[in-house]
Amino acid sequence: MSKVLVLPGDGIGPEIVDEAVKVLNVAKQKFGLDVELDEALVGGAAVDAEGDPLPEGTLEKARAADAILFGSIGGPKWDAIERGKRPERGLLRLRSSLGLFANLRPAILFPQLADASSLKPEVVSGLDILIVRELTGGIYFGQPRGIKEENGERVGFNTYVYTESEMRRIAKVAFELAMKRDKRVCSVDKANVLEVTELWKEVVTEEAKAYPEIELSHMYVDNAAMQLVRAPKQFDVIVTGNLFGDILSDEAAMLTGSIGMLPSASLDENRKGLYEPCHGSAPDIAGQGTANPLATIMSLAMLMRYSLERGDVADAIEAAVERVLDQGLRTADIYTEGTRKVGTEEMGNAVAEALAQA
Ligand code: NAI
Ligand code: MG
Repeated sequence: MSKVLVLPGDGIGPEIVDEAVKVLNVAKQKFGLDVELDEALVGGAAVDAEGDPLPEGTLEKARAADAILFGSIGGPKWDAIERGKRPERGLLRLRSSLGLFANLRPAILFPQLADASSLKPEVVSGLDILIVRELTGGIYFGQPRGIKEENGERVGFNTYVYTESEMRRIAKVAFELAMKRDKRVCSVDKANVLEVTELWKEVVTEEAKAYPEIELSHMYVDNAAMQLVRAPKQFDVIVTGNLFGDILSDEAAMLTGSIGMLPSASLDENRKGLYEPCHGSAPDIAGQGTANPLATIMSLAMLMRYSLERGDVADAIEAAVERVLDQGLRTADIYTEGTRKVGTEEMGNAVAEALAQA
């Protein structure tokens, strides 16, 4: 039996997660999956109820789960509260408490949505990149950090640090994933300026020796940012640290047109994972029933693939999404003339039905 914890969160989170759970229930039936679902509070919803964006009870359930399906957190309601209690801190603590060091962010352009990209069709058509971002180290977590007074002025400081073992394990994840894809890995660094990434480059190169079939390349982050918009199809898997990965994965996401289409996975060493859409809680459209649930549904597909090791179920869910796009159904964020605009629930129902009929 596998345990899946559902954390809907704030804003559109509960709306989109509902649709993914609907699809999960169809998958359970159809494939005879032995999955037990549980639910808990996180983010602003947890702050309101218990004064903490990651209550102990939620963390306990998360530790006991094999996988977590996460909506989104945050919103203007909680912007003014003290830094340590902001909803976003709940997610950061969850990731680090569970040791979810490998963040997988695919950027795939669906042929049905080729119009949605801001780049020329010939530059992006068939785009299928996987960004592997280190998620629990680097400058986001390095100590010391803070803001202090020094010589009569304020000084802000953070520490950029990676241990060799942190570098090795993320490189390994990237190589393993690339072996199942196009066997090309581009490691992104700033080795010309930053010692941390000089070592990164060395360690990744050493680790690659165990994967003779992999074609490894290295690129400075500034060049990678340019190449992603100039010729994104040159990439297969990109592996990089936390900060560079945060920026490059958002950039890659935009190549595909809509943030409403992008799933993600964050994995630990044992394939336990947290699965969530790349977007936030979209307070501007929350409660309207218009949010695109597909990023969350495709995050569920990743959950099946990586944590439950049911690639067949993942493939079926992704095929159901494609079928619905083929039918011309579009939420507002991906709507173009000649297609049919639908709401969150109708989109979820359509995917569930397509999966049931597959
Ligand atoms: P956002 O991703 O929530 O929204 C950006 C824009 O994209 C908005 O116009 C929104 O309506 C649209 N959008 C997002 N998801 C969509 C979907 N599924 N369907 C249709 N349209 C969608 O980012 P924003 O506005 O910067 O942040 C809003 C809140 O979300 C903030 O409190 C932020 O801290 C939080 N946030 C939470 C994240 C998480 O839970 N992992 C990640 C990013 C932001
Ligand atoms: Mg980001």
